[in-house]
Amino acid sequence: MEIKKIGVLGCGLMGSGIAQTAATAGFETIVCEVSDEVLGKGFAEIEKSLAKFAEKGTITAEHGKEIRGRLRGVTTFHELADCNIIIEAIIENLDVKRETFKQLDQLCKPNTIFASNTSSLSITEIMTPVSAQRKGRFVGLHFFNPVPLMKLVEVVRTILTDEEVYEEVVKFSAALGKVPARTSDKTGFIVNRLLVPYMLDAIRALEEGVGSIVDIDNAMKLGCGYPMGPFTLGDFVGLDTTYYIAEIMFNEFREKRFAPPSLLKRMVLAGLYGRKTGRGFYDYTADPKNPTPMNLQ
Ligand code: 3HC
Repeated sequence: MEIKKIGVLGCGLMGSGIAQTAATAGFETIVCEVSDEVLGKGFAEIEKSLAKFAEKGTITAEHGKEIRGRLRGVTTFHELADCNIIIEAIIENLDVKRETFKQLDQLCKPNTIFASNTSSLSITEIMTPVSAQRKGRFVGLHFFNPVPLMKLVEVVRTILTDEEVYEEVVKFSAALGKVPARTSDKTGFIVNRLLVPYMLDAIRALEEGVGSIVDIDNAMKLGCGYPMGPFTLGDFVGLDTTYYIAEIMFNEFREKRFAPPSLLKRMVLAGLYGRKTGRGFYDYTADPKNPTPMNLQ
């Protein structure tokens, strides 16, 4: 395989997980952030996750050392110039992503593959400022939270993606220890196309009094074998993120199933984003391991 050196742009929740996964799979990995302070936070998350794997015996102390040795944090794009693939996991803002790729296009080797971890923006739209040659080497690589545990990665092709490049990225995804799902650049790809309407429907069911937060969560968890009920999952993913994705999907498809329900909008306006702010459908502030359902009437 041609891909040996990985660049990861962004060391937040997703970027740190992607960098950890790449280093664990044996790749030399460079992760770029805006400052040492932000990098430090991302590396602290990686340490926490590696500690969990070590506790469980999934990795040995020696393996942990090797993983850390393959990971390097940097704060300038120049350091990514000779990577074989760059995986972008920065803020979900089209203009920021486009400007970032425009700069990287000028810095990187002509054969560097560019990949975006966007969950809902169009890959074709993100890649507009890069050269015609690079457009053939541009894909989506959509990972799932928590990245070190979730086995899936969506590999997204655009109508301009070179066949060989696409197959190389599929092979690379498998080498990361993930199961690649082949998909094309249609808003939401496979997972969010199906998952987002399900989560929004759960909120509508709550609004209509079909069941309580706990009963709806238990119904889907225990009745369908999902690892988390829809409200626990919403709080985990972030209700701001869920709202943002739903808005993009609704704008694209203009179908009611993607329209964010008014309760979701009010919760986001009120700062109830889920775990990250301490409250969402559940209140995590007293005991994060045993959250209590919120009264959202
Ligand atoms: N690194 C390493 N280990 C971790 C970890 C991490 N980041 N997070 C959790 N773990 C470990 C825990 O230590 C625990 O280990 P143990 O079994 O030895 O105790 C184990 O994983 C299980 O964790 P928990 O007991 O805390 O909880 P769960 O059994 O519920 O598992 C979960 C956690 C894997 C997150 C599981 O609940 C799950 O699969 N949930 C669904 C997640 C999901 O659907 N993600 C996709 C979201 S959608 C998305 O990302 C797309 C985007 O575009 C919106």
